[in-house]
Amino acid sequence: MGKKYSVIKEELQFKVDKIVDNDLAYLTHYLQNNKNGVSNYYKPSAQEYLTELHEVNNIAQEADFQYYLPIEWDVPFPPPENPTFKFIDLFAGIGGIRLAYQNIGGKCVFSSEWDKFSKQTYEANFGEVPFGDITKISEKDIPDHDILLGGFPCQPFSIAGVSKKKSLGRQHGFLDKTQGTLFFDIARIIKHKKPKAFMLENVKNLVSHDKKKTFEVIKETLSELGYSLYYKVLDGKFYVPQHRERIIIVGFKKSVFKGKETFTFPQPDEANFAIREILQQKVDEKYTLSDKLWNYLQEYKKKHQAKGNGFGFGLTDLNGISRTMSARYYKDGAEILIPQKGKNPRRLTPRECARLQGFPDSFVIPVSNNQAYKQFGNSVVMPLIQAVGKNIVKELDILNESKQPKTAIYQ
Ligand SMILES: C[S@@+](CC[C@H](N)C(=O)[O-])C[C@H]1O[C@@H](n2cnc3c(N)ncnc32)[C@H](O)[C@@H]1O
Repeated sequence: MGKKYSVIKEELQFKVDKIVDNDLAYLTHYLQNNKNGVSNYYKPSAQEYLTELHEVNNIAQEADFQYYLPIEWDVPFPPPENPTFKFIDLFAGIGGIRLAYQNIGGKCVFSSEWDKFSKQTYEANFGEVPFGDITKISEKDIPDHDILLGGFPCQPFSIAGVSKKKSLGRQHGFLDKTQGTLFFDIARIIKHKKPKAFMLENVKNLVSHDKKKTFEVIKETLSELGYSLYYKVLDGKFYVPQHRERIIIVGFKKSVFKGKETFTFPQPDEANFAIREILQQKVDEKYTLSDKLWNYLQEYKKKHQAKGNGFGFGLTDLNGISRTMSARYYKDGAEILIPQKGKNPRRLTPRECARLQGFPDSFVIPVSNNQAYKQFGNSVVMPLIQAVGKNIVKELDILNESKQPKTAIYQ
């Protein structure tokens, strides 16, 4: 029997409250990966930090990992026992994408997220603290992986900068075109690590952003890096009672798949979810809108309707689905309001927001309500990501089968 993660955490007094410091990321990444081939990426820094923690906390025991291993992962979503592929989780948020890919047998070997509150949620659920700012992490410090995953923020590319460089007679590959954006960081990691496949997620508007230029540069860059591309706008309403359209971009490495992949996006044809299915039975009064806020929202809607705008609150039909939950839901909850008999409507509770994104109830919410609303609003419809992931992993399996009998290859 190993030591429980929760006991180790207490003994070493982990605190996920440092913003720039990657010490805890090294330590937890090492603990998660001590048995597989990527442990060397983390061990030296993890050992240094373990020694420091022993000194600070006055622990008499030698600062030796053997004392802590093996670990019994008493977190809601421990690493899978017999994983069949490795992935990395970029712009990890609270790990909606990680959860989906763990569910289909993947082992996460690197995660990055710079928001301290998201890190707290991530650690509470997975037992791993993500590394911070991805722009400051060298691609050389990222372990090998089969699939790269990331829902990255959408930013314009400075085409003007490109023309200037072009006029100076310089090559202008993706390095120049995307410099200074977070997509650049994805591209440089793909270029260096050459994963077999990737899945990127973004808002639907990415396709039309900056007169379609942004998406053109993204497609061009990814093909230039040697990947065949598949992309589609998918709606979460086929998996949860929420209308949520997101663009998903999937790539397969041409030199590995040789154009033989048979990937298609999942296409469920039934969408018969109802929001009442995710509602909690007993909800605190604090979620009911005050008269002041409810009056304000109604006035606001009237004013905009008079001008012919569709802006305003969304009172949800309990037998129907909700609008898209955004990261600003914490402000007034206006986009998804739940009608109540004889009372003002109420906003969703954080647990209901988790369910609206398809997270199981075992997902721990360790942060304030405001932070939780932001985190779930920023996250993904987990089962949709899982459905896409399943089809990607099917291609990896076919590839493995053609080479050798399928076995669990990583720990
Ligand atoms: C759209 S959210 C992704 C949410 C994630 N898919 C989930 O399931 O929770 C984008 C995330 O990228 C993070 N982020 C933005 N810039 C970053 C950077 N330079 N380094 C690391 N994370 C960053 C944000 O804090 C945010 O949580």
